[in-house]
Amino acid sequence: MAKKTMINAAPQTEAVPLDDSWIGRIHHGDCVQTMSQLPADSVHLVFADPPFNIGYKYDEYDDRLDSEKYLEWSRQWMSQVHRILVSTGAFWLAIGDEYAAELKIEAQKLGFTCRSWVIWYYTFGVHCKFKFTRSHAHLFHFVKNPAVFTFNHMDIRVPSARQLVYGDKRADSAGRVPDDTWILRPQDIPQGFGEDEDTWYFPRVAGTFLERAGFHGCQMPEQLLGRIIRACSNEGDVVLDPFSGSASTLVTARKLNRRYLGCELSQEYMAQGTERLERTQIGEPLTGAADPRTSAPATSEGRQREPSTAKTSGTGKKSPRKKGQGLFEE
Ligand SMILES: C[S@@+](CC[C@H](N)C(=O)[O-])C[C@H]1O[C@@H](n2cnc3c(N)ncnc32)[C@H](O)[C@@H]1O
Repeated sequence: MAKKTMINAAPQTEAVPLDDSWIGRIHHGDCVQTMSQLPADSVHLVFADPPFNIGYKYDEYDDRLDSEKYLEWSRQWMSQVHRILVSTGAFWLAIGDEYAAELKIEAQKLGFTCRSWVIWYYTFGVHCKFKFTRSHAHLFHFVKNPAVFTFNHMDIRVPSARQLVYGDKRADSAGRVPDDTWILRPQDIPQGFGEDEDTWYFPRVAGTFLERAGFHGCQMPEQLLGRIIRACSNEGDVVLDPFSGSASTLVTARKLNRRYLGCELSQEYMAQGTERLERTQIGEPLTGAADPRTSAPATSEGRQREPSTAKTSGTGKKSPRKKGQGLFEE
């Protein structure tokens, strides 16, 4: 007989309490060092968006390590994540194509089980001339114990196509759990790229967006983080981000009434992230459109340029690139 999987089981696990001095702040310094000081079984959810080792320009960290060194370092920080998580805890890893396969295997060797390999499909990726412009990142949902883990599926359900389009009597009125798809512009097929598919569409937090904190080029969207935090933790649980950056994970956790802590190597990002947290209230709505399809106009509603004024070749003047721009550009 197949083994029964228990889900939605979070309250069964008592976390080892963390001293108040750990909670509600970003700890400056190396995350391996910081996490090694935390007791085992003290954190319910870790969301990690580490440097991808692609030469991205951070203010302090050098994102071009020798591949073996990067993998060894990844093993070190992920083993701390495994140690500090409660037995029903979850580890979400955001990673690029370059090391997705390697880090998934390393995480499994450390004892994690992968529940979902989610593709985050985003718009506003930086245009590449000599390869297809990248518009996705990988999000791995790992659990420590595949038989008992937190997954609040009722908190993240979305309306199904059966409900929205087909008026199907069999439709579950509570909607369905989000599921991944190739699409050029989701705005052009409003019924076709729903939250109920397994490629998640959230626009990258581009430079012109109101929600952009302005000091970090890799700011994650709060709506994406909100889905993860709601699904894999409960109010009052401890959420940790080892690579806090713009502090988006912590800001989202605070809004959703979780306890939180972050680590950040850069003094500047730590200071600016702390200010962002101080401006954030518990219960405040998450920024960004809850339905990302409404975050940009459909092509038919867009402003069209006359063919004579539109630039079609690469012969024009190049605008100077600011530090922090150029995510994934090659
Ligand atoms: C991809 S960014 C994280 C962006 C973040 N998810 C956000 O939404 O803004 C990675 C961050 O990790 C930080 N970092 C690099 N090495 C670190 C280390 N050993 N310990 C802590 N933080 C580190 C970098 O300074 C950078 O801010």
